[in-house]
Amino acid sequence: MLRTHTCGELRLSHVNQIVTLTGWVQRLRDKGSLLWIDLRDRYGITQLILEEGSTNAALMAAAKNLGREFVIKATGEVKERMSKNDKMPTGDIEIKVTELIVLNAAKTPPFTIEDETDGGDELRMKYRYLDLRRTPVRESLMLRHKMAQQTRIYLDSLNFTEVETPVLIKSTPEGARDFVVPSRVHHGEFYALPQSPQTFKQLLMVSGFDRYYQIVKCFRDEDLRADRQPEFTQIDCEMAFITQEDILSTFEGLIRHLFKAVKGIDLPSVPRMTYDDAMKYYGSDKPDTRFEMKFVSLKTPLLDKEGSGVVDLTSGKNFVVFDNAELVVGICAKGCAEYTRKQLDELTEFVKRPQIGAKGLVYVQCKADGSFKSSVDKFYTTDDLKKWAEAFNAQPGDLLLIMAGETDSTRKQLNELRLLMGEKLGLRDKNKFSALWVLDFPLLEWNEETNRYHAMHHPFTSPKPEDIPLLETDPGKVRANAYDMVLNGSEIGGGSIRIHDRATQQMMFNHLGFTPEEAKKQFGFLMEAFEYGAPPHGGIAFGFDRLCALFGGSDSIRDYIAFPKNNAGRDMMIDTPSTISEEQLKELGIQVRN
Ligand code: AMO
Repeated sequence: MLRTHTCGELRLSHVNQIVTLTGWVQRLRDKGSLLWIDLRDRYGITQLILEEGSTNAALMAAAKNLGREFVIKATGEVKERMSKNDKMPTGDIEIKVTELIVLNAAKTPPFTIEDETDGGDELRMKYRYLDLRRTPVRESLMLRHKMAQQTRIYLDSLNFTEVETPVLIKSTPEGARDFVVPSRVHHGEFYALPQSPQTFKQLLMVSGFDRYYQIVKCFRDEDLRADRQPEFTQIDCEMAFITQEDILSTFEGLIRHLFKAVKGIDLPSVPRMTYDDAMKYYGSDKPDTRFEMKFVSLKTPLLDKEGSGVVDLTSGKNFVVFDNAELVVGICAKGCAEYTRKQLDELTEFVKRPQIGAKGLVYVQCKADGSFKSSVDKFYTTDDLKKWAEAFNAQPGDLLLIMAGETDSTRKQLNELRLLMGEKLGLRDKNKFSALWVLDFPLLEWNEETNRYHAMHHPFTSPKPEDIPLLETDPGKVRANAYDMVLNGSEIGGGSIRIHDRATQQMMFNHLGFTPEEAKKQFGFLMEAFEYGAPPHGGIAFGFDRLCALFGGSDSIRDYIAFPKNNAGRDMMIDTPSTISEEQLKELGIQVRN
């Protein structure tokens, strides 16, 4: 080793020792006769000191010529500092330098390489290798490393085998768009990069592997967001001879193990909620359960639950908006009764934004003296409003925010408002963790673009046996043996119990609009495998990048990926996607039309 110690290692106990450190010059402070250098490596920062008189003049002159990010090797004696820095683990000591070698000079970096940097996103992406020198970014990747290690430890302890599956596979029409790779040998034919190893892990169950996992790259050509990347990583798992209950308990165990081992947190057992209830009480299949603020309906559709539990506290008072609405539903914002007109207008503007698309917002202020003030005072009496307040279990000082319209869209709009209010009230603390299982997802969802049903999870998910007859009559109502794990309002994992017999799989493809020929062409290998003794099986995949980001308290998964793509799916550093040469195109048999 070129060094005797790292830059994070030396303490008072090392005083008087002669040491050699290596690293990058983070900062130089030149006071004329005194020169300090902050030397940084991945382990920390150590202060070096050179002093006119006691340091040799040539060495002093050489040190003055150092620049930021020069790579150096410095030897000297460990001294106790006159003025200590209790913010740094090495803050009690400094190194009195007697020898200094420049291992490599450096150009001035385009942004400061410190915890707080002056570099914008794009610049830091272009020079990601410099950004990765910064402590917060490096720590994010260290967290990721620990998460991967602990995942392997947990799954290995339960007899899971890590198996690699291929990256060059076959394009399929379901799910997101595929990234495709042209074949040089077979002109006009393409491989696709896997959106997940779904079919392979099922085949491994047919092979008898029984418990499989893989920390694996997946590729999806979809619109990007803060929590989505075109290539991302899954903790992908599958088990045979199990029930849904076994999957839930095994993988709840994984998440709790990660919380304990990586963050020292005892996560309580994960509560469960059906998809229907999640939509009814939170307007979302991934509710943020760090805070309550559940939806309360003032008017429900008449046929809700065969007429039972129907509520209507709003009709017949000449307020047409509510009279015409299928659903009138709201939330109670604790302690917000004194919101000003301006604040209330802002909330209305928020829900009316095109991305949310609500027509308006009704409010009721439950005043501290027991009176009410609302935006619908013209239509409703104090008695009416009192009944509403009771339905919400509102206290004096609370604010009711109410929306109305068609059931699904109104719930979705109110979900956005609930999240905003949670944010405003400081209820979405990044250091608080609330996990939830959402169960019994619908098997199918209607797609307006293609005008047909698509599998909500994927076509290999089994329907609930008792709902199978509905496939003929009311396909949208069929529930699946499918589950998601949600953490702080983010979907961190999803899976299902699979179909494991050919006939059911064939029936499912029929319902998804595949002709028998198409089904055979796309998934013939899987259906054939089902005829050679496929055990009952099921599994789950966690979004590893998302999980890391949540553990690290960040909204963006990019910070937890060493070399991420930007919002346009571009790698700014290596500058890709990019064109390829005419010759390569020719070899691949591809003609580019301009
Ligand atoms: P699913 O499509 O739900 O399931 O994906 C599993 C988890 O992967 C994460 N995820 C993403 N993370 C970052 N960027 C993306 N573009 C992205 N897309 C998905 C999410 C999600 O919950 N084969 C099935 C799993 C199974 O049934 O076992 C699958 O891939 O956190």
